[in-house]
Amino acid sequence: MKAVTWHGRRDVRVEEVPDPAIKEPNDAIVRITSSGLCGSDLHLYETLGPFMTEGDVLGHEPMGIVEEVGPEAGDLAVGDRVVLPFQICCGHCWMCQQGLHTQCETTQVRDQDSGAALFGYSKLYGQVPGGQAEYLRVPQAQFMPIKVPTGPPDERFLFLSDVLPTAWQAVAYADVPEDGTLLVLGLGPIGDMSARIALHQGRRVIGVDRVPERLDRARARGVEVIDMEEVDDIGDEVRSRTGGRGADAVVDAVGMEAHGSPVAEMGQKLFNVMPRRLSAAIMQRAGADRMAAIYTAIGAVRRGGTISLSGVYGGQTDPVPMLTLFDKQLQLRMGQANVKRWVDDILPLVLDDADPLGTEEFTTHRLPLDAAPEAYADFQAKRDGTVKVVFKP
Ligand SMILES: NC(=O)c1ccc[n+]([C@@H]2O[C@H](COP(=O)([O-])OP(=O)(O)OC[C@H]3O[C@@H](n4cnc5c(N)ncnc54)[C@H](O)[C@@H]3O)[C@@H](O)[C@H]2O)c1
Ligand SMILES: [Zn+2]
Ligand SMILES: [Zn+2]
Repeated sequence: MKAVTWHGRRDVRVEEVPDPAIKEPNDAIVRITSSGLCGSDLHLYETLGPFMTEGDVLGHEPMGIVEEVGPEAGDLAVGDRVVLPFQICCGHCWMCQQGLHTQCETTQVRDQDSGAALFGYSKLYGQVPGGQAEYLRVPQAQFMPIKVPTGPPDERFLFLSDVLPTAWQAVAYADVPEDGTLLVLGLGPIGDMSARIALHQGRRVIGVDRVPERLDRARARGVEVIDMEEVDDIGDEVRSRTGGRGADAVVDAVGMEAHGSPVAEMGQKLFNVMPRRLSAAIMQRAGADRMAAIYTAIGAVRRGGTISLSGVYGGQTDPVPMLTLFDKQLQLRMGQANVKRWVDDILPLVLDDADPLGTEEFTTHRLPLDAAPEAYADFQAKRDGTVKVVFKP
C-alpha cells in the first residue's frame, strides 16, 4: 500500500510499504478514506525528529471502512464506517473507566514512561504505524472505532478523531463562566475549533494569531481577533477589552513551537544537528520548549482564572514563572485529549445537518496522499491559506 513515511527533518515521502495485517485477535483492518494532517505532525516533522525512525508511517486522524476483523473485535463488522481516535485505548482498564483514555493502562508505553500509545507518533508513543496510508491496522477494535452513519461527507465526522475532542476538552478544562471571556491563543485547527465550540456554548471569545487567513477565518465566525504582530503586549490588549481584569480563561492552542521564543528555538535547532542517539537522550532530560504562548497565557488571564493547555509541550527544563502562577492563583489543566470521553457530547452536533460547528467547510485542502511532501511544507510555513489538510488515500 501507499503511505506517508518519515525520513528526517522536513523530509516526509510517499512510499510503498507492506499492507498491514491482523496480529492480535482484537485487531481490525480499515481502508482509509480520509486522514487529517495535524499540528502535532509538525512537531515530528521538525522538533521531535530524534524520537522518530526512518520509515515510520505518520498520521493519527483517520477514518474509513472496516475491511477485516479479528475474532475478538466485538460487534465491529466488515463494511462499518468508522472514525479512529488518535490514541489507542482498551475501554476497560481503570484509566479508561475514568474517561482518561490517553492514560490507558493496557497500551501505556511504559519503557518510555509515556501514556497511551498513539497512532503514528514516534518511539515515545509506541511507534504504532499511522493513518496517512491506504490501510490501517487498528488495535483494540472491540472498543476504539467510533461508528458513524453513511450519508454525510467524511469531513462531518473525520474530526472526531482529534480536532473536535481536543478542542472540546480544551474548552471544558477552561471552564469559562457563563458570562465570561475565553482567550484562545493560536488559530490553527485546534484553536479555531476551540473558539467555535466556546461560541456555540455562548461564551465571548478573543483569538490571537499572526497568520492573516487564520485571523479572517476566526473573525468570520464571530471571534474578536488580535493580530499578535500589531500589538505590543497581548495581555494589555486583552485587559483593555475585559474591563481591566483579563480573560477568565485561556486556551493555549500553540504548543512547543510558538513564535517569539528565540533562545529555545535555537536549542531545538541544535538537537536537529546532533547525533540522534545523543539528541534524544539529552532532549528527554534537558529539552526546552518555546514557551511564548504559555507566558502570554499567564500574563493575559485574570487573577483566579484558568489556563487550559492543548498545545503539546515536551521540555523537561522549561522555566515557568511559579511566582506569578502562584500569586495570580491560577488553575492549569492540560493533556492529550481523551477522545472517547467526549464523543457522546459532540456526536449530536456533527449529526445535526445544520452543522453548527462548520465541520464540512473546515478543511481548506483535500489532497491525494502523493501530495503529502508539499502539504507538510505548506502547512508548516502556513502558505497558500493552508489551515486544515485532509488526505484522500
Ligand atoms: N492535546 C491534544 O490532544 C492535541 C491534539 C491535537 C493537537 N494538539 C496540539 O495543539 C497545537 C495546535 O495544533 P494545530 O493543529 O492547531 O497547529 P498549528 O500549528 O496549525 O497552529 C498553531 C497556531 O499558533 C500560532 N502561533 C504561533 N505562535 C504563537 C504565539 N506565540 N501566540 C499565538 N499564536 C501563535 C500559529 O501561527 C498557528 O496558527 C499543537 O501543539 C498540537 O500538537 C494537541
Ligand atoms: Zn492531531
Ligand atoms: Zn484502557
